[in-house]
Amino acid sequence: MPVLRLNHIALVTDDLDAALRLWRDILGLEVEAVRDVPQEGVRVAFLPLGESHIELVLPTQPNTGVARFLEKRGPGMHHLCLEVDDLDALVPRLKAQGIQLTQATPQVSPAGYRYIFLHPKSTGGVLVELYERPKNP
Ligand code: CO
Repeated sequence: MPVLRLNHIALVTDDLDAALRLWRDILGLEVEAVRDVPQEGVRVAFLPLGESHIELVLPTQPNTGVARFLEKRGPGMHHLCLEVDDLDALVPRLKAQGIQLTQATPQVSPAGYRYIFLHPKSTGGVLVELYERPKNP
């Protein structure tokens, strides 16, 4: 099967403290990390939840994709991320089925994993990230 598991659900917020109050203080999730990702103009908090994570995303710079999303649609669900074992096998199948991707080819994160997004127009309105773990050398 090409999809292995739900890796994370990303929620965009305009108030990270308020989001942490809910997810950490009230619902009791642990915060694994809070970090700034300047190249994407966001601060993110990762909260493990079972085998997945809740990822809280706060835009810190204007005119990024996430900042525009927040401006247009308000706080809420931003994307879900599915972990897959082989992007190079899956991406051509998606393209052949007419699924719209937000980039032509997978991007590589600073942490070394590869990812690509399915456009909400092709998914019933939900931005879907496909994530491939770095392969062991
Ligand atoms: Co993500």
